[in-house]
Amino acid sequence: MSQPAVLFVCLGNICRSPLAEAAFRAEAVKAGLAVSIDSAGTGNWHVGNPPDPRAQAVALEHGIDISKYRARQVKEEDFLHFGQIFALDSQNLQDLKRVAPRRTLAKVGLLMDLVPGREGTAVIDPYYGSEQDFAEAWDDVSEAARRLVARMLR
Ligand code: 4NP
Repeated sequence: MSQPAVLFVCLGNICRSPLAEAAFRAEAVKAGLAVSIDSAGTGNWHVGNPPDPRAQAVALEHGIDISKYRARQVKEEDFLHFGQIFALDSQNLQDLKRVAPRRTLAKVGLLMDLVPGREGTAVIDPYYGSEQDFAEAWDDVSEAARRLVARMLR
């Protein structure tokens, strides 16, 4: 069996989904879970760019260097490679479903649906916000990451 693959998707792939990728990678390593992990954006404005400096800073506060990450846009083949694709908000989810090829087996859902009591909610886009908003985004994605690892270990 090939190892599971998980993709996190937001709008720009420079704020929320790189944080989700980093948080989930850290939790997976801690749990000894072998999994392929990536992130992407539904938009193309930031393709090739590193994460927002405020996202880099909050990840580094938690001991994770994401400065080498580079933004990319989600593509049709992602739906063939990744078994699970998580959207950071419901607009991302809607946009993702538009890109999905008809033959995909990927399970596509909202990231915060993983967290009991937070179903249907968004990881709020911190791009036009403050450092506090980035800290909240980090808290949300790490909680979801822990839940996802626990689910995959079951
Ligand atoms: P992200 O945040 O989707 O969490 O990466 C954003 C990044 C860039 C823009 C919006 C949100 N933008 O409008 O350029």
